[in-house]
Parts: sequence; structure tokens; C-alpha cells
Amino acid sequence: MISCMFFWTLVLFGRQGYSQAQDNFLSVDFSILSLDNTSQPVSAVKIDTTSTDRLNVLCNVSAIPDFKQFIILSINTINQNGVIQRLAYMSGLNQTGAKPLSDSDITPIGNFHATKPTLGISLKVSNLSCEDTTKYKCSLAYVNNDYKPEDISAIRSLTVSAPPSNLTMMAINESSSLPITDVGFTSANPAAFMVGQSVNLTCIARLGTHKDSTIKWNKNSVAIGNESEYIESEADLVKACDYEKTGSLFYNITEEDAMLTSNNRLELQCFVFVADVSFETPADARQTFYIDVYNPKATTTTTIATTTTKTTTRQYIITTTASMGNATRNGDVSSSSNDQNRITSMQSLAVSFGVMFIRYQQNQM
Ligand SMILES: *[C@@H]1O[C@H](CO)[C@@H](O)[C@H](O)[C@H]1NC(C)=O
Ligand SMILES: *[C@@H]1O[C@H](CO)[C@@H](O)[C@H](O)[C@H]1NC(C)=O
Ligand SMILES: *[C@@H]1O[C@H](CO)[C@@H](O)[C@H](O)[C@H]1NC(C)=O
Ligand SMILES: *[C@@H]1O[C@H](CO)[C@@H](O)[C@H](O)[C@H]1NC(C)=O
Ligand SMILES: *[C@@H]1O[C@H](CO)[C@@H](O)[C@H](O)[C@H]1NC(C)=O
Ligand SMILES: *[C@@H]1O[C@H](CO)[C@@H](O)[C@H](O)[C@H]1NC(C)=O
Ligand SMILES: *[C@@H]1O[C@H](CO)[C@@H](O)[C@H](O)[C@H]1NC(C)=O
Ligand SMILES: *[C@@H]1O[C@H](CO)[C@@H](O)[C@H](O)[C@H]1NC(C)=O
Ligand SMILES: *[C@@H]1O[C@H](CO)[C@@H](O)[C@H](O)[C@H]1NC(C)=O
Ligand SMILES: *[C@@H]1O[C@H](CO)[C@@H](O)[C@H](O)[C@H]1NC(C)=O
Repeated sequence: MISCMFFWTLVLFGRQGYSQAQDNFLSVDFSILSLDNTSQPVSAVKIDTTSTDRLNVLCNVSAIPDFKQFIILSINTINQNGVIQRLAYMSGLNQTGAKPLSDSDITPIGNFHATKPTLGISLKVSNLSCEDTTKYKCSLAYVNNDYKPEDISAIRSLTVSAPPSNLTMMAINESSSLPITDVGFTSANPAAFMVGQSVNLTCIARLGTHKDSTIKWNKNSVAIGNESEYIESEADLVKACDYEKTGSLFYNITEEDAMLTSNNRLELQCFVFVADVSFETPADARQTFYIDVYNPKATTTTTIATTTTKTTTRQYIITTTASMGNATRNGDVSSSSNDQNRITSMQSLAVSFGVMFIRYQQNQM
């Protein structure tokens, strides 16, 4: 009885005499618990609303050599302003009734043990938002073998990250200064450009929490080198946890582009790259602009398109392109390349303009 009173006196009056014990006896452990109860230590979590996993944050007390009796173990968050909020705690003084208790709406987890208690919280991964990026602090007060109170704590940051999501592509025909909306965005409906013309592609990318992402450009699956100009904006926070960045590519169509075969047309593609996590936008989420390149200087057989003229702008342009001089898309093999169809450039031009004129008149009717 005497010794018991002595113990309580120490606990109640000895607090200001708490000394800082070594911190490596206490750690904050983050782990992902799957449905099959397998557990995987982690240091960061990705937002995933479809996940069935749980994130467990545990205060882990490893063997403390002079551990006589623990007083209280608590798990807290520390926000950006340094404000500490206790989430759960466990008292070691009532050894019969001790269990994790909650200060919040989060159900605490853990087990009472006289010298190796565990305490933590368990969160659904599907319920996490990047606002859950915070510091967790575990604090343990205990009495050592000399009946001296000790205070130890451990702090660890948890990063909750949102991956880059979607990309939106826009195109401007720099040769006409008009936005392109009707062609180019699917492989089935490519845009037509002549060598020497230019297109300006813009990609708006949602970066999630990865504001250090860059927008990259591929030409036919290969990184575009310095033959093109590309510019990138700074990342702006557009909504909680979602940065946005704009990149644009000013591309001059070259004669080399016209050498591409018809089933390997010019494809300009944007995607997001995050260096520190080696992330690249997956293939099916990238944005691609498809271009059929025509070369007015190419010396290939010219055929005059025989498609019936419709009054849509696009068909009008394509018909015009196909009948200009020796203009051809390389790789296109003329379907009627007999000699009678061979005509000189001047004849071809004359015929073309005639056809255009007739069609123009038809279009007006
Ligand atoms: C996982 O653990 C919980 C609680 O201990 C138990 O109820 C459940 O049956 C376990 N699930 C599997 C797949 O072992
Ligand atoms: C607690 O920490 C000890 C020592 O660092 C480690 O061996 C053990 O695996 C940890 N326990 C859990 C549940 O993470
Ligand atoms: C200890 O816990 C038990 C069970 O929860 C409870 O019945 C008892 O009153 C507690 N004792 C004290 C001193 O808090
Ligand atoms: C999920 O999040 C909501 C809102 O933040 C919260 O009210 C709810 O308790 C959370 N549920 C779980 C299981 O964590
Ligand atoms: C794609 O991103 C844009 C902004 O860049 C946004 O307005 C749009 O809602 C997003 N679309 C989808 C399907 O997420
Ligand atoms: C772009 O503009 C040029 C000049 O007006 C025109 O020749 C070309 O067909 C246009 N291409 C597209 C895809 O709009
Ligand atoms: C390309 O278009 C974007 C969006 O209109 C514009 O901000 C950018 O300056 C253009 N790039 C060039 C080189 O003109
Ligand atoms: C493009 O890069 C290559 C190799 O990095 C260099 O030799 C060349 O001069 C560069 N061209 C321009 C126009 O900067
Ligand atoms: C593209 O063409 C424009 C206009 O002719 C020129 O100013 C620009 O330097 C060219 N860009 C590249 C990368 O060759
Ligand atoms: C068109 O092709 C003919 C031969 O097929 C060639 O003689 C002529 O120079 C070419 N015209 C142009 C403008 O390249």
C-alpha cells in the first residue's frame, strides 16, 4: 500500500521532472492492410476511391529496457500551424480495463500490453483525400525501473498523393489562325496539312498533387527534340489537391513528315511525366493529334479526286489539297495510275482550278 502511494505521488508530482528518453523505442508505422489481411509498410498513400484497403497508423513501442509501467500512450496529428489534435489514447494505469479510446470519430485500434502497448487508427484508403497529408505524433509517458517518469515521442509525415488525371488537347491551325475542332483528334479523322504549314497544339493537364510534373511531347512515339518549340506554364492549384498546367507545341510540318507512309501518319502526342515517382500518363489516357501530311513538291502521279462534292468546309479543303499541282501524301498509291492520268504540273494546276471552280459553283447552288 505504501509503495503504491509512493508510485502515485511520483506520477502526479513528478511530471515536470520528465526526462526525454531515447526516441527510437517508439515509432509511427504506416501500413496498408488488404482485404486478405496482408499488411505492407508504406511511407505515402495514393488516393484511390475504388480501393478496399485500409491505412493503419500505429504507435509501435519496441522493447524499452527500463519500462516499469506505462502511463499513457496517445496518437495525434500536427497540422501545418503546429496545432496538435489527439485522435486516440490508451491509459496504462487501469491495467484491467485498458483499451484504446477515441477522441475523434475514428475508431482506434491496438492492444493493451504492460510494456509493449500498441495504439493506432485505421482509415479506409477510399476515404482519403490529399488533405489527409499531415504529421502524426505518438507520445508515450511511462515510469522507469527507478520510478522516474519518462516521456518519449515520435513524429512522422504521411503524404497522401493524387495522381495526374486527365489531359485536354486543343489545336490551332497556325497557317489560318483558326482553331481546329473537327479533325485531328481521332486516327479515323486526321487533319490535313501541307509541308511548310504549322500547327499549335495545347495540352491542359490535371496533375493531381504533383505540381512538379512536366508535359512531354512525342512525335510518332519518339520524344520530340529541339526541332520544335514547346512552352509550359507554371502549375496552378485549381482545386484542392489538383494542380493544372498548360503546355503547347508549335510544330512546323516538314518534308520529312511527308515521307511517312499512309498507315504511319504524323502523330503528335502529349502526356504528363512526374520524375520523382517515375509516372507517365498511361497510353490510353494520352492525347494525340493525327495529321496526314501533303507535300506540294513531291513528284508523284497526280489523280484528281472524283468524290462527289459536298458543301462541308472540310471536304472542300481536302479536295483542293489533293488536286493542287503534284501534291500527294507520300505512301498513297494512286488507284488509277495509268499513263493517261499523268499530266504535267501546269496542266494539273489548270485542271484543278477548273474543277475547283466548277465545285465552287456547285457549292453555291
Ligand atoms: C481478417 O481479419 C479480420 C479481423 O481479425 C477477420 O475478421 C477476417 O476474417 C480476416 N480475413 C481474412 C481473409 O483472413
Ligand atoms: C514495431 O517496431 C519494431 C522495431 O522497430 C519492429 O520490429 C516491428 O515490426 C514493429 N511492429 C509493427 C507492427 O510494425
Ligand atoms: C478499470 O477498468 C474497468 C473496466 O473498464 C472498470 O470497471 C474500472 O472501474 C476501472 N477502474 C478505474 C480505477 O478506473
Ligand atoms: C469517411 O470520410 C467522411 C468525411 O470525411 C467521414 O465522415 C467518415 O467518417 C469517413 N469514414 C471512414 C470509414 O473513415
Ligand atoms: C479534364 O480536365 C479539365 C480541365 O483540364 C476538366 O475541366 C474536365 O472536367 C476534366 N474531364 C474529366 C473527364 O475529368
Ligand atoms: C490550315 O490552314 C491552311 C491555310 O489556310 C490550310 O491550307 C490547311 O488545309 C488547314 N489545315 C487544317 C487541318 O485546318
Ligand atoms: C499556341 O497556342 C497557345 C494557346 O492559344 C498560346 O498560348 C501559345 O502562345 C501559342 N504558341 C505559339 C508559339 O504561338
Ligand atoms: C538540337 O540539339 C542538337 C543535339 O542536342 C544540337 O546539335 C543542335 O544544334 C540543336 N539544334 C538547335 C536548333 O538548337
Ligand atoms: C517554325 O516556323 C516559324 C515561321 O516560319 C519560325 O519562326 C520558327 O522558328 C519555326 N520553328 C522551328 C522550331 O523551326
Ligand atoms: C510534277 O511531276 C512531274 C513528273 O511527274 C515533274 O516533271 C514536275 O516537275 C513536278 N512538278 C512539281 C511542281 O514538282
